[in-house]
Amino acid sequence: MHLERIRSLVSADFEEVDRVVQYRLHSPVALVDQVASYIIHAGGKRLRPLLVLLAARACGHTGKDHVEAAAIIEFIHTATLLHDDVVDESSLRRGRDTANEVFGNATSVLVGDFLYSRAFQMMVSLDRMRVMSIMADATNTIAEGEVLQLMNAGDPDTTEARYLEVIYRKTARLFEAGAQIAAVLSDAPPEVEEALSRYGKHVGTAFQLVDDALDYQADEADLGKHLGDDLAEGKPTLPLIYALQQGNTQQREMIQSAIRNGSVEQLAEITRAVASLGGLAYTARLAQSEVDQALKSLAPLPPSPFADGLRQLAEFAVKRKH
Ligand code: IPE
Ligand code: IPE
Ligand code: MG
Ligand code: MG
Repeated sequence: MHLERIRSLVSADFEEVDRVVQYRLHSPVALVDQVASYIIHAGGKRLRPLLVLLAARACGHTGKDHVEAAAIIEFIHTATLLHDDVVDESSLRRGRDTANEVFGNATSVLVGDFLYSRAFQMMVSLDRMRVMSIMADATNTIAEGEVLQLMNAGDPDTTEARYLEVIYRKTARLFEAGAQIAAVLSDAPPEVEEALSRYGKHVGTAFQLVDDALDYQADEADLGKHLGDDLAEGKPTLPLIYALQQGNTQQREMIQSAIRNGSVEQLAEITRAVASLGGLAYTARLAQSEVDQALKSLAPLPPSPFADGLRQLAEFAVKRKH
């Protein structure tokens, strides 16, 4: 399922989001302006704002608040990426040099803070206490997820459960919050709000599972990120965790040592082992089961092209190559 087709369901809203993003990006401080627009205009799939717009329309939203909400979610996502690329020492994102590569770590962290706090200014302008409360909790959880992941880094004994806790917090939580605030802003009934929250959580989990598999199998040009970045950080992601369970002693020692040392010296062998031991297939199966749960969650929504768009977005999360 192509993203373009899904986007066309809300194309007018989507253009509005771009305008809001553009307008809200501005700062009188030249370097803030420069770095913020560097990362925002690098492209990016804009999946989260798309989810917010579809969710709001699926709830029969009529006003303009959902456009602001979609921009808020994209700003928070972008802020986490600026911070993430510093933490992960990544040099490629969205097919170009990362902001930390071009402007340095200090600038990236500080402009990330600018985008974060700008998102909160925008939330205040929505003047909905529940939205503030959901977003305050979500951003706090994301920060915890990143720290939790740091604690797992270099630890080959990380369990699947600990890994799943990390991806829920660092990634799925923002999808969950985006879907939920769309419901809140649309004054949807509690069962619809609950349905959308669940949907967001499952789609977000599937999305990160696939991301972690892509780190060992994607085409770098499609992905716009360097492969093997996770291993370089000693990240025990699910493809590795599963391969560790299935491998022979020699394979296990190779993977354990790479995780402990954050070494990509044996990336090619490890990539082969992860694939042949079923680590990628296992991760893909789990992602598909999350998508199935996301689709089931949508049952309480009234039928509409937008609800169908949400279904297609869930399918995209597992089919994507970038
Ligand atoms: C990247 O998210 C970070 C993850 C949670 C894996 P996206 O893949 O949605 O990033 P962009 O916005 O399209 O660049
Ligand atoms: C993405 O995490 C950042 C957050 C979800 C906060 P990753 O480090 O796994 O994603 P990429 O691969 O850099 O996009
Ligand atoms: Mg990271
Ligand atoms: Mg990263």
